[in-house]
Amino acid sequence: MLRILAIETSCDETAAAVVDSDGGQLVLRANIVASQVEMHQKYGGVFPEVASRMHVEAIGPVLREALTAADTSPDQIDLLAVTRGPGLAGSLLVGVNFAKGLALGWNKPLIGINHLEGHIYSLWLTEQADQIRFPAVCLLVSGGHSELILMRGHGDYRVLGGTLDDAAGEAFDKVARVLGLPYPGGPSIDKAALEGNPAAYPFTRPLTEGEEHAYNFSFSGLKTAVMRAVQPPPESGRRTRREEGLRPGYLRPDVNVNDVAASFQAVAVGLLVEKTVRAARDFGAACILMAGGVSANRLLRAEMRRVSVLPVYYPPPVLCTDNAAMIAAAAHFRHADQPAGLSLDVRPMLPLGATG
Ligand code: KG4
Ligand code: ZN
Repeated sequence: MLRILAIETSCDETAAAVVDSDGGQLVLRANIVASQVEMHQKYGGVFPEVASRMHVEAIGPVLREALTAADTSPDQIDLLAVTRGPGLAGSLLVGVNFAKGLALGWNKPLIGINHLEGHIYSLWLTEQADQIRFPAVCLLVSGGHSELILMRGHGDYRVLGGTLDDAAGEAFDKVARVLGLPYPGGPSIDKAALEGNPAAYPFTRPLTEGEEHAYNFSFSGLKTAVMRAVQPPPESGRRTRREEGLRPGYLRPDVNVNDVAASFQAVAVGLLVEKTVRAARDFGAACILMAGGVSANRLLRAEMRRVSVLPVYYPPPVLCTDNAAMIAAAAHFRHADQPAGLSLDVRPMLPLGATG
């Protein structure tokens, strides 16, 4: 049995988790997440300097809470794992330096984990973990990433495609902002859409022309179409995109926010489902995996299951958004070939699959 303590601070959640790995089985003992959402609501998004300062304040209490919830003492921990990238440099630094301090103080081994691998391995904390078969096609959709990944085995990733512009979560967040819905926008749109008519606004599905874009997404045209449909015409002259974006919640009086949310969501989800199902078919996948914040979306889950003939697996919502349990899970499967020790550094642009 290996007891893993993981730390995650790549964006705006300060998280610590304790996971036991016993043979192939993972047991989640504690999963503590301190969210900075309220602070970032003021800015309508993540403000990097505020994020790193808040990590500094939260990390100690979050660690203590995780140890208490897991009913464990530091000497029972066998391995420390920390997110080293990708993410905001200042945020990552807080977690990595804190983890190094623990490694030194407690005399424990430390490894660095890729945040994207963490999202993927959140699937192995679910009850369906033992049903997952390779090759699998994984749709990884979060605030910073939208990738379609072919996974042929543990640690074996081929990125088939991704977004050409905004990440899926970023598109949800920006559209929510335009509609005057609270940050983070994904859950707000998900909720508003339940009361809306998805056929009310006939937004067209963004076209990603050509075979080279068979597995790519694009969301910025859709976001602009939503803006044009809901914002009042300019008083004088042509508004720049920047000015439009700066007028959140400034809507034409006839606009039904729930209908717009439902119509936008239907198109965005349709695109994600179509490309994922196509990739799964083209590469002979045995199942479809979904991970990342946007995989908590109710319509995305329902539509993927409806359209796909393959089994579709996704984590519970708390494991879709950023957390440290997924970092511990990735550490269990990947600790043999990840960078280790006190010389470990942050990698804000770390690609999936990099081991150096
Ligand atoms: O994975 P995550 O917590 O952080 C990143 O690594 O980016 O993802 C956060 C993103 C945000 O853009 C948020 O709006 C989106 O996931 N999100 C959702 C839902 N819940 C979170 N998007 C659509 N529907 C949801 N229910
Ligand atoms: Zn994430």
